Amino acid sequence: MTNINRQFLLAARPHGLVKETDFEYREAPVPEPGDGEVLIRTSYISLDPSMRGQMENRADYVAPLEIGQVMRAGAVGRVVESHHADFPEGCLVSGTFGMQDYVVTDGRRIPLRRFDAEVAPEAALGILGGTGMTAYFGLLDVGRPEAGDTVVISGAAGATGSIAGQIAKIRGCTVIGIAGSTDKCHWLTEDLGFDAAINYKQEDVASALDTHCPNGIDVYFDNVGGEILDLCLARIRDGARVVLCGGISRYNATGELSGPKNYFNLVFRRARMEGFIVLDYAKRFPEAEAQMREWMREGRLQQRVTVVDGFEELPRTLIRLFEGYNTGKLMVKTS
Ligand SMILES: NC(=O)c1ccc[n+]([C@@H]2O[C@H](COP(=O)([O-])OP(=O)(O)OC[C@H]3O[C@@H](n4cnc5c(N)ncnc54)[C@H](OP(=O)(O)O)[C@@H]3O)[C@@H](O)[C@H]2O)c1
Repeated sequence: MTNINRQFLLAARPHGLVKETDFEYREAPVPEPGDGEVLIRTSYISLDPSMRGQMENRADYVAPLEIGQVMRAGAVGRVVESHHADFPEGCLVSGTFGMQDYVVTDGRRIPLRRFDAEVAPEAALGILGGTGMTAYFGLLDVGRPEAGDTVVISGAAGATGSIAGQIAKIRGCTVIGIAGSTDKCHWLTEDLGFDAAINYKQEDVASALDTHCPNGIDVYFDNVGGEILDLCLARIRDGARVVLCGGISRYNATGELSGPKNYFNLVFRRARMEGFIVLDYAKRFPEAEAQMREWMREGRLQQRVTVVDGFEELPRTLIRLFEGYNTGKLMVKTS
């Protein structure tokens, strides 16, 4: 164990795309755990689109960060010193540990999820972590797919989209993914079993959707918002479910944002569009984890990770998330 706690702090509120100068590097002493507390050494830190919103000074579903605070980030790590019976030394835990090497918690101030020894840290952060839970509950609880449905997923080669699409296949749906490169589209159809994939950077998405969804869309799982949401809204079927998971196309936008033009099709098609926040499902995470581990054992569900090595890469890697650098779950290995 070193005696330095490397940290990245929020140095400035971003305007447009996040910049490296929005972060400040600092070395702090390693904190000491008191009674009922544990000291955790992080090993992988997650890069999530929501971090962009948290850098702004606006109320959201979590409090905004203040300038000078440690950047908020999900992470996994091992307990290196324990004064808490539920989290013994050596156990793997995940939580919002921030962009830093060490964190102290009593398990409530920063809630902890503990994983058993079989689970790899990359899985605890990805497929069994927040993004896996988002895919599971967003698709199944909000999207409610039925066998034979046509399901369209944007951001399909990312952490959440790639899991949501595989779950829709397990449920017997026809699944169309929308992603930003030929390689990503190839991975979706050849490795994950998607029925088709649309490269939104090279193809005419409207006509590709017409080709692949000749009878329209039953479930649209939206990770990107903007024009792609509008194109899908125009193609929903009677009783469709539009799952608002995220809207990454707008996270770095400056100026006025336009709303979806085609929302009124929800009326004609007696359809539902609904947002959700995965944290509201926390009590049901064990149920999802058990089901997803079973699918993984059966070889029906897999995850890909894009791992960048080195703590110092954290700010640059967050920027690259918005440039489509990752396939599957993006994380930085810090120790
Ligand atoms: N509701 C919730 O509780 C919840 C929880 C977690 C995440 N989310 C949301 O779920 C979405 C996916 O998150 P994730 O963690 O799984 O990230 P991710 O999909 O692994 O990574 C982001 C991906 O978005 C794509 N992208 C970037 N800019 C884009 C743009 N302008 N237009 C279209 N696509 C763009 C890129 O892939 P391409 O190469 O395909 O462009 C990039 O790889 C995000 O919107 C996030 O905010 C919601």
